[in-house]
Amino acid sequence: MLRITVLVSGGGTNLQHIMDRIDDGTVKNALITNVISNNAGAYALERARIHGEIETDVISPKSFPDRASFNKAFLEKLNDIDPDLIVLAGFLVVIPPEVIKRFRNKIINIHPSLIPSFCGKGYYGLKVHEAALARGVKVTGATVHFVDEGTDTGPIILQKAVGVEEGDTPEILQRRVMEEAEWIILPKAIDLIANGRVSVGNDRIVHKI
Ligand code: GAR
Repeated sequence: MLRITVLVSGGGTNLQHIMDRIDDGTVKNALITNVISNNAGAYALERARIHGEIETDVISPKSFPDRASFNKAFLEKLNDIDPDLIVLAGFLVVIPPEVIKRFRNKIINIHPSLIPSFCGKGYYGLKVHEAALARGVKVTGATVHFVDEGTDTGPIILQKAVGVEEGDTPEILQRRVMEEAEWIILPKAIDLIANGRVSVGNDRIVHKI
């Protein structure tokens, strides 16, 4: 059984879909044991509490005198949990390098664009969709990838394209990308990992068996 910790900052719709797909048996051999947020007011935490049987925690850089002490406490928390997989589901805090090193190839992220478009520093949440609309792309989508030391640079596991439609606002496009891509490929990627169907080679290629 793959023991998962999900890191969240906001509404938690991706968390909800992971919980639902585990509960209805679509995602097999996986269990969410912990949900951690940097934001005590995140509705994602409430979703985990409503679900039950998931430990929730809040740890924020704002509660520490400097980044180094936050990074240390964050690593200690994750070491205590010792998850098999960490899922970033709308987590807006930069993952400390020591956490990436300790959990190499055990951290995945959902990003709301087709990487390498509209990703990297400063591209998160609605900003991604604002940029996609400003550039006038006709197709966007979402990507699930392993997390490495860069921002949105790790090996890609799954992507799904979503069409941009006439009259889209960033909010409308964000919702469509969630419904048609994120909520499908994030649980799917977890299922692939939980069932030994994804691995990362030295050449950063993700193999699906
Ligand atoms: C999602 O759209 C996710 O792709 C995005 O934040 C949103 C969280 O929504 N993540 C990023 O932009 C990371 N760079 P949710 O809290 O409802 O799952």
